[in-house]
Amino acid sequence: MQTISTIDGLREIRREWQLAGKSIGFVPTMGNLHAGHLSLVEAAKEHADIVVVSIFVNPLQFGADEDLDNYPRTLEADSEHLSKLGVDVLFTPSVEAIYPRGLEQQTFVEVPGISYMICGASRPGHFRGVATIVSKLFNMVQPNSAFFGEKDYQQVQVIKAMVTDLSMNLSVHAIPTMRHNDGLAMSSRNGYLTEDERQIAPMIYQTIIRIREQIESGRRDFNQLINTENTLLAQSGFKPDYIEIRDAFTLQPASFEGKELVILIAAFLGKTRLIDNIQVTL
Ligand code: PAF
Repeated sequence: MQTISTIDGLREIRREWQLAGKSIGFVPTMGNLHAGHLSLVEAAKEHADIVVVSIFVNPLQFGADEDLDNYPRTLEADSEHLSKLGVDVLFTPSVEAIYPRGLEQQTFVEVPGISYMICGASRPGHFRGVATIVSKLFNMVQPNSAFFGEKDYQQVQVIKAMVTDLSMNLSVHAIPTMRHNDGLAMSSRNGYLTEDERQIAPMIYQTIIRIREQIESGRRDFNQLINTENTLLAQSGFKPDYIEIRDAFTLQPASFEGKELVILIAAFLGKTRLIDNIQVTL
């Protein structure tokens, strides 16, 4: 595996692949890799001749009250995992390379509507930061396919909308969430949980499973269902941010007749904000 940290270096090797007629699969990450990320790499390997993984902790998607400086940076261990998996290039650009004119002057990509609801309402500017960095990375890597975790369901919908709106020439793949044995979705943020918090964290997953069962058995009083589950979470020590039942494609509030739904949840446990989701097909 080659590690490249300059955009010119990446473009040079990209030209060679192009001349050799190779297809490129891309997995953008912020590092601190876990089995969920590695499953994205496996999927990319199945789809493409060459696999590029980027590690870049993107300051543009962190809010002022979010802890950018303490985001876990574990480059050595990440690099070892990726090398073992047979990744071709690890791209590790610096903040200066990515944002040469500074964050304030950066041209940005905004996907209206879908970026402002749910997580976007709780984290204003977050999806603008994600869309901007992902479009920049797409311009650098020029992949044929890109791979994202379904755990960040709204992020995937934002990126798909951006790719359509900007006529980008690549396919976007959403890979199912990897879970621990107790159901907790794998996430870099789980590392922030104390031992006690880690014990109760799987309640997030139990909550969405319970909601799915209720919907599948015919319940359509969504607001009542959400209120009950919010109360249960709060009683167990969470500070719920939202529980939402939405149309799986538009992310608009689910109608009673909706057949393809997604249940999304975000809740704080201590200082850690956990998210999860599950789809329901009726
Ligand atoms: O999901 C992530 O890790 C990040 O949001 C992404 C897509 C790498 C953009 O910084």
